[in-house]
Amino acid sequence: MTPAVLIAQISDLHIKRPGELAYGQVDTAAALQRCVAELNRLNPRPQLVVISGDLADTPAAEEYDHLKSLLAPLEIPFVAVPGNHDDRRLMRAALPNGGYAHDGPLDSVHKAGAIDVVLLDSSVPKKPYGLLEDATLRWLDETLGASTTRPALVFLHHPPFITGINHMDVQNLHNAKALAEIAKRHPRARLIAAGHVHRATLTQFAGVPATICPAPNHAVALDLNESLPPSFRVEPPAFHLHTWFAGDGFGDLVTHHVPIGDFRGPLPFFGPDGKLL
Ligand SMILES: [Fe+2]
Repeated sequence: MTPAVLIAQISDLHIKRPGELAYGQVDTAAALQRCVAELNRLNPRPQLVVISGDLADTPAAEEYDHLKSLLAPLEIPFVAVPGNHDDRRLMRAALPNGGYAHDGPLDSVHKAGAIDVVLLDSSVPKKPYGLLEDATLRWLDETLGASTTRPALVFLHHPPFITGINHMDVQNLHNAKALAEIAKRHPRARLIAAGHVHRATLTQFAGVPATICPAPNHAVALDLNESLPPSFRVEPPAFHLHTWFAGDGFGDLVTHHVPIGDFRGPLPFFGPDGKLL
């Protein structure tokens, strides 16, 4: 069955000025170019790409200019929400057509066929941790309350749950309880999808499936020993592809992990005679 709606999520791009490397090591611009090529290869094409924060790195206006030039070849519409490495004012100026709900936090809602895509700005100016402002929480409650039948996918940068990677957990979403209360009130919230940790993670939050999207560049090291110093590893890059199938109730949502790169294949399972090769 071909899914009725496909939404790609990419996260934590950390684009710097042209020629600069993240942490002096990682060419995040080249990583995004490979990611865009992978997105453009998808067949069928997603209706929408969601960028779940940390679009820039320091941040700076030149980084957003660089980001826009790197995203120009993307053949799919995209929407974005800030992370802790972003600046609301610079991001709003760089992406003025984001459909933002208010003057402050860059919250927005977008229709993708039968799905509502809700973006929550969890960034706190100049802080690494996340917090949903009262205006965002009120807006989310109203936005989810606008329908009882359309499935909604909720995206934000900071995970509202712990991962066991201690130095990241101390900078996750600090008012996760407030988000949980709203999610519980609105059963049409079918997924809570975050970024920030640069690695694929799956759990449940307030009874809702909850994920972290991997990054196209580097990953926060999987250090579940809290005495280890914060570090990153350059692991296989990837993104998430959220696929929705129409059906009873809210239908079915399946998230695929998509590696980025030039791999062997596709190679056929069967020969021209229909027999397994
Ligand atoms: Fe982040």
